[in-house]
Amino acid sequence: MIIGVPKEVKPDEYRIAMLPVGAQLLVQDGHTVIIEKNAGLGSGFSNDDYADAGAEIIESAEDLFRRAQMIVKVKEPQPDEIGRLRANQVLFCYFHFASSHKLTLQCMKKNISAVAYETLTDEHGRLPLLTPMSEVAGKLSIQEGAKCLEKPMMGRGILLGGVPGVPPANVLVLGGGVVGINAARVAAGLGANVTIMDINLDRLRQLDEMMPPNVTTVFCEPHAIERYAVQADLVVGSVLIPGARAPKLISRELVSNMKKGSVIVDVCIDQGGCSETSRPTTHGDPVYVVDEVVHYCVTNMPGAVGRTSSSALCNATLAYCRELASLGLQGFLDKSPGRAAALNMQNGRIICTAVAEAFPDLENEVRFVSSGRVE
Ligand SMILES: NC(=O)c1ccc[n+]([C@@H]2O[C@H](COP(=O)([O-])OP(=O)(O)OC[C@H]3O[C@@H](n4cnc5c(N)ncnc54)[C@H](O)[C@@H]3O)[C@@H](O)[C@H]2O)c1
Repeated sequence: MIIGVPKEVKPDEYRIAMLPVGAQLLVQDGHTVIIEKNAGLGSGFSNDDYADAGAEIIESAEDLFRRAQMIVKVKEPQPDEIGRLRANQVLFCYFHFASSHKLTLQCMKKNISAVAYETLTDEHGRLPLLTPMSEVAGKLSIQEGAKCLEKPMMGRGILLGGVPGVPPANVLVLGGGVVGINAARVAAGLGANVTIMDINLDRLRQLDEMMPPNVTTVFCEPHAIERYAVQADLVVGSVLIPGARAPKLISRELVSNMKKGSVIVDVCIDQGGCSETSRPTTHGDPVYVVDEVVHYCVTNMPGAVGRTSSSALCNATLAYCRELASLGLQGFLDKSPGRAAALNMQNGRIICTAVAEAFPDLENEVRFVSSGRVE
């Protein structure tokens, strides 16, 4: 199989979807790996690193998309890339379709097959290809949130951990999954007063056991959200219903009642965000203010730390990528229900139920099936 790895073109995206070692192993498996020139520079890998690993360096994205049977990338295809997609091409990357009607329709029209990192599950029902980036984003959410709380960034002028004699900030984490755990740990490590909410009681029990004493667990329901959000200096949005749009837990009215200069870091913005006031932003222009509440809603947070993120991502994706290349799409899907769950679109047909439910109008565009099995 010819596997193409393009240079990421989303604004301020420095990750690459394959390390030189990945290229080497795929070549050893008998495949051809083509890498767009300079695709690895943002993560610290030179063209020579890939050439030495046996990959072919391709001058232009056009040629890469034209030749590759399977495209392996990080972020969802951007407008220029969509124009280059070919019917029946397999794309293995993050898509987050439910947050974008436009992207979903465009990919349908291109008749591609979309194997999404974010819905692939392992034998325990976990999301192994979302986890590494969620670990990065969870830690970054506090780093960025702490910065946004500084006065020059339009924040309240509060130091997250306080100092002796001055109390620390209140941090509210909505969703106690991978992002939430990492956010809570870092915030607690800095000395903040942390509350973490989830609707999964077993998860809350686990968190209660594993978190330090300055982290309190609270069941997530509208009254509790309201009570804690108005006291919060920093709110981290980290809920997920896999494949679906994020639930809107913070209303516009609640934002207007939050402290002036408080901060919302809506990490789940890639699935639409959990605040009614959230809209996607970029690393170049990461924040905006609504009702004097600072919003940070960058959809590709791990892109800012490409060296760490590319390694973390590829550590998780490479084994699946090798399987996909060697078994072909159907062989890969047949291997386990978790792999089948990664198939969001097959030759332009929506396969993932959560995506179909997010856009009922697209149901008439093409038929969709409820299981991951291609029929
Ligand atoms: N912006 C970025 O750059 C970036 C990077 C990585 C991950 N993410 C996103 O962050 C989000 C969280 O990812 P994750 O890996 O932590 O997911 P996860 O599945 O590990 O955790 C999600 C948690 O949300 C909880 N939840 C679901 N509905 C809830 C509700 N109504 N109220 C409270 N809790 C609820 C679940 O019980 C679960 O514990 C996802 O949307 C993911 O795509 C964004």
